Amino acid sequence: MRFPPGFLWGVSTSSYQIEGGAPDDGRGRSIWDTYCATPGKVARGDTGEVACDHYHRYAEDLDLLRNLGATVYRFSIMWPRVMPDGVGRLNPKGLDFYDRIVDGLLERGLRAWPCLYHWDLPQALQDRGGWANRDIVGWFAEYTAVMARRLGDRVDQWVTFNEPSVSAWVGYEEGRHAPGLTDPRAAIRAAHHLNLAHGRAVAVLRSLTPKAGIGLVIPVHKARPLPQFQERDGHLAALFEDKWNGVFLDPVYHGRYPASVEAKFASHVQPGDLEEIHQPIDFLGVNHYFPSYVQPAANGAWPFQHADPPLYFRRTETNWAIDGQAFYEALRNVQIRCGNPPVYVTENGGAFIDVPGPQGRVDDQDRIAYYREYLIGLQRAISEGADVRGFMPWSLLDNFEWALGYEKRFGLVHVDYRTQKRTPKASYGFMREVIATNALPG
Ligand code: NOJ
Repeated sequence: MRFPPGFLWGVSTSSYQIEGGAPDDGRGRSIWDTYCATPGKVARGDTGEVACDHYHRYAEDLDLLRNLGATVYRFSIMWPRVMPDGVGRLNPKGLDFYDRIVDGLLERGLRAWPCLYHWDLPQALQDRGGWANRDIVGWFAEYTAVMARRLGDRVDQWVTFNEPSVSAWVGYEEGRHAPGLTDPRAAIRAAHHLNLAHGRAVAVLRSLTPKAGIGLVIPVHKARPLPQFQERDGHLAALFEDKWNGVFLDPVYHGRYPASVEAKFASHVQPGDLEEIHQPIDFLGVNHYFPSYVQPAANGAWPFQHADPPLYFRRTETNWAIDGQAFYEALRNVQIRCGNPPVYVTENGGAFIDVPGPQGRVDDQDRIAYYREYLIGLQRAISEGADVRGFMPWSLLDNFEWALGYEKRFGLVHVDYRTQKRTPKASYGFMREVIATNALPG
């Protein structure tokens, strides 16, 4: 069960989920600060104000990365920490923080993969319409240039966006994430502007940091009808994949929107937009967690809705079905849909109960079993020719799981939020062995 020679192992995190340090050093507010402060939006009223206090404890966290044996680290930059108003004024102390992260990685022999956008949009820009306003393409380009000039000499690969589909569909259509809108038309505009902002950022990065690689992270889904409705609902699963995968992959890889959604986008696409989005990138980051089941929806912007997966699946604590086969199929989807691009799995993992034992130790055999199953799915995809070059568990630390707050834990390292004590879980040891041997232990 070996992985290909040179396979890259890393870990992913994101700024709002771990940094905390909310009022510190002149950081501006993001849409997640606003969303968390809105009663009823986040479980138990949790917020990212303190989170894992990574802003102050980053050195210890980088040591945990090094001790895991990881070679790459995907983290994200909090846009309002470095540009409190989103555009214009810079915050030197915020920029210094990311310098310290990148330098800290290099000192420990790790490669830096910063992601420019993992959902914490400056609130000042949301006040001007956020992703629904086409001007954001220019705002994002300005911010991208700032970061490229500042960190570009030390960055191995850039990620422009993490899961833009979630920003558009969950943030603007379903309203379960910041900014919490339920406006399907604004969601379409947001989706197009996210794509366009990606394209423009690629051009900015290429000109300012020509040696660094550039990629985009998409949560690639494998959608299925419920087994008893294979015939009836097959076309809904295909449409689901167009909405979640195709809307964000096809413009980048083929310069067009999927035919099934073209009409929705037509009035927002201006001449030259698709050419701007459709330019070479160096890799696709794939996030994947669970199989997606669909059923017909009577009304709403789309003719399908989420269906609960069949009961024969085991589940994680977020009620996601565990299915390494769907991971394999999602990687095959990428191979087919995008012409087998270089892929790094930039997120995969699960929330489990994780109750610490006597010495504070978490013996998370369920998480280890999850990773075993998914890594077998990954090996199968590779053995069938998928060009997958690396894998990053989600996540290093337990962290702020968005609308679900702190209760759902995804870390390889347990965080006691009262003391901020970090304790590696059994899965950390498992992953360290996988990385050290470049193989699945027997
Ligand atoms: C996707 C997101 O990128 C990340 O922020 C989130 O915590 C994980 N999936 C788990 O839901």
